[in-house]
Amino acid sequence: MFSLSLSSLSFLLPILIYAAVATASTQFIKLPLLHKTQHPNQNSFSRSHPHPHPHHHRHRQTLKSPVISGAFAGSGQYFISLHIGSPPQPLLLVADTGSDLIWVKCSACRNCSLHSPRSTFLSRHSSSFYPHHCFQSTCRNLVPHPHPNTCNHTKLHSPCRYEYSYADGSLTSGFFSQEIITFNTTTAQQLQFKDFNFGCGFHNSGPSITGGSFNGANGVMGLGRGPISFSSQLGRRFGNKFSYCLMDYTLSPPPTSFLVIGSEQNDVVGVNSKINFTPLLMNPISPTFYYIGIKSVYVDDVKLRINPSVWSIDELGNGGTIIDSGTTLTLLAEPAYREILTAFKRRVKLPSPAEPILGFDLCVNVSGGLSTSYPKLSFELVGGSVFRPPQGNYFIETSDLVECLAMQPINQESGPSVIGNLMQQGFLFEFDRDRSRLGFSRHGCAIP
Ligand SMILES: *[C@@H]1O[C@H](CO)[C@@H](O)[C@H](O)[C@H]1NC(C)=O
Ligand SMILES: *[C@@H]1O[C@H](CO)[C@@H](O)[C@H](O)[C@H]1NC(C)=O
Ligand SMILES: *[C@@H]1O[C@H](CO)[C@@H](O)[C@H](O)[C@H]1NC(C)=O
Repeated sequence: MFSLSLSSLSFLLPILIYAAVATASTQFIKLPLLHKTQHPNQNSFSRSHPHPHPHHHRHRQTLKSPVISGAFAGSGQYFISLHIGSPPQPLLLVADTGSDLIWVKCSACRNCSLHSPRSTFLSRHSSSFYPHHCFQSTCRNLVPHPHPNTCNHTKLHSPCRYEYSYADGSLTSGFFSQEIITFNTTTAQQLQFKDFNFGCGFHNSGPSITGGSFNGANGVMGLGRGPISFSSQLGRRFGNKFSYCLMDYTLSPPPTSFLVIGSEQNDVVGVNSKINFTPLLMNPISPTFYYIGIKSVYVDDVKLRINPSVWSIDELGNGGTIIDSGTTLTLLAEPAYREILTAFKRRVKLPSPAEPILGFDLCVNVSGGLSTSYPKLSFELVGGSVFRPPQGNYFIETSDLVECLAMQPINQESGPSVIGNLMQQGFLFEFDRDRSRLGFSRHGCAIP
């Protein structure tokens, strides 16, 4: 269980300050990813209406931060803990590669005694809080969704309003602002970044950001490809790469997962020699997402008959496959899903549970066996590498002694297929944005 305490904000540790200039001393930042669990419902923070963003050139270097698994609080999400403001206020954000905006729940209260501590960012209680003016270039160029209100540049206090929505219709709106953020890295350093752009969300609505699945989170840390994301804002100081390992949070005690901005210099366990690569593909219609290309799917080494066009991105930008840390289950284009489901149904001979399990098409009653062995699943990717998840990544316990195939179909017309965070567990994934490639390895997660 993760908890934060307001009384523990003392700055006893040395603080490194990064402003506009990159320093050579820190090559990466490693942050723990916290996890909270419950029922692995389909959570998705993927952006719904992606818009093209202008490109900006920045400095480069590395940042590594611990990632917190969202499973204990019931969401199947991974969280990052950070501090915003002066004095710093602790907040917990969902780590999401499927969106760009970093935002936190905000309150403009003056007398905040009615606010439960650490549920919102109290902007008036920070001396470094700076809402951008709507006429500033930061607002006009960086905010993908400026609020429909017209900007009155003759008015002194005309804040940069944003509005940002997610795949399930959840919405956050507020002021696009600047602050100082502080992290505890795994090496017990405190790192501070000035001029950090984020959304101060005064109005937040919708199931995935207010309901139980948000689970104690105070906002979302977008790690997408757009210029306002965490990986873009900090990544350019750290070589424009980031990586993470999402560990199986059902293990006891749950292992720590990490987010690394930049790359750890030492190839301690020879990960580099064992790493597989596949190109990160670009979809100009959805520049937020990290697309990868699936060539074929195998169940028990038998190639399924799926038309390759099922995986492609069409002229309208529909289809394709993204890798998303903010979505729990894997969602596949209908024709591919049907083939995979059929192949599993043919091979899995265990009895069905007495009642069907809502949201899953293949569930089994495992009360009869000691340990169940499921058919092997593998994805052949563009470039020839093969992603072979262990069975625990695609068969999950949904209730006592009932296990289900952790995939759902999507209608290909309406969105990409999504490799969710359960499917990614136990692998190191490295998003190399400059080289446009995704590295993955089953041997990369053991690094302390
Ligand atoms: C960071 O470390 C300090 C000192 O150990 C601690 O007081 C503080 O709560 C930590 N902050 C977070 C966000 O973990
Ligand atoms: C803040 O609100 C509380 C509760 O309503 C009240 O008791 C307190 O006097 C207020 N403080 C200030 C400074 O207004
Ligand atoms: C699973 O099978 C066992 C043995 O037949 C039975 O007692 C139990 O109720 C079943 N569980 C479910 C959820 O169907």
